[in-house]
Amino acid sequence: MNIAILGYGVVGSGVVEVINTNKESINMRAGREINIKHVLDLRKFPGDPIEDILTDDFDKIINDDDVDIIVEVMGGLEPAYTFVKQALEKGKSVVTSNKELVAKYGAGLLQLAKENSTNFLFEASVGGGIPIIRPLNESLTADEIYEITGILNGTTNFILTKMEEEGRPFEEVLKEAQELGYAEADPEADVEGHDACRKIAILSSLAFARQVNFEEIPTEGITKVSKGDMEYASKMGYTIKLLGRCKRKGKEIFASVSPVMIPLEHPLAPVKDVFNAILIKGNVIGEVMFYGKGAGKLPTASAVVADIVEAAKHKGINIISHWSKEKVEMMEAGKIPASYFVRVQKKDGVKEIIEDTFLGVKWVENEDYPEELAFITQEDEEDLQKDRFEKLKDHAYVISSINIEG
Ligand code: HSE
Repeated sequence: MNIAILGYGVVGSGVVEVINTNKESINMRAGREINIKHVLDLRKFPGDPIEDILTDDFDKIINDDDVDIIVEVMGGLEPAYTFVKQALEKGKSVVTSNKELVAKYGAGLLQLAKENSTNFLFEASVGGGIPIIRPLNESLTADEIYEITGILNGTTNFILTKMEEEGRPFEEVLKEAQELGYAEADPEADVEGHDACRKIAILSSLAFARQVNFEEIPTEGITKVSKGDMEYASKMGYTIKLLGRCKRKGKEIFASVSPVMIPLEHPLAPVKDVFNAILIKGNVIGEVMFYGKGAGKLPTASAVVADIVEAAKHKGINIISHWSKEKVEMMEAGKIPASYFVRVQKKDGVKEIIEDTFLGVKWVENEDYPEELAFITQEDEEDLQKDRFEKLKDHAYVISSINIEG
């Protein structure tokens, strides 16, 4: 079975490496030989073993009737979307690691695959090497999933871990994450939370079988998390993680991405470095957690190649996947419940104002910061918390505030 790989970057070259390394077992599992017939890239790779099959002409690939599977690992929306659509319309299977593409067009592309008796597979788009898409589609089908919480971005988890454990500066660790091939082409997508936002949108769309628009998910990255916040967290028996969350509350769903202080006993607290983990709660299974490397060449390529095998096994047979274009009813951002850990500059009378404004708080002692007051608010709707912060700012300087989970 012939495949074509669109994009010979970190993931694309990883796919070639995995197929070559594990050729025999992959072919055995696919039930046929997987042959890489074309690699599409605008760049040249002199001396690389793929040099002879490299092309910059997508038409050559799309018009090659011997190509059954298109592997899209270019990233970005265009031309990836156009290429993927054309491939599905021609009855070719598509495998992708492109979370932007899946979050935005997943429902439509799954429908197109169904209409053409082929498959659109995207295991590598969430959690790198962690199997999570197939478990959601095929294993957790007995459950009503009501909550998903995940560390969904390897780069930011790597940065937070190195800042916390080695006291290294943000910029330096980000550079290392880029060199290791974890970060997005524009690392703002990682550090500002956009990548995690797309991933939680994909997981919640699959869990609730309807469209969760990533644009409607309140998203905050890790750029405001300071060394001081981390020191407080560790003193309190907490750690700080960038979490993607979605939860069903009555008929509505709410989702968010933000840094959150979680207690060390929380199942996601020990997840360090480039590892990701996804904690799912279902009404029958209870809690189930998936853990593994969330970014990097080979882990991501492992998920892509597993999808290639799946596509090979299902040539001409559409694997049913439930994700309709109909939108999920999302809770307004202002109604999402939240509690905060807050640091303010010490000033006469501020303690009383805080008690009054936040209707009672839990005070946090930290002798390393004698000029500060720190406290944990009660959980309440985001809009109400915002109003309270506005009021507090009239009386005190707020050093930082961060979501906290008990
Ligand atoms: N930049 C992403 C991350 C790559 O760090 O998680 C994997 O999607």
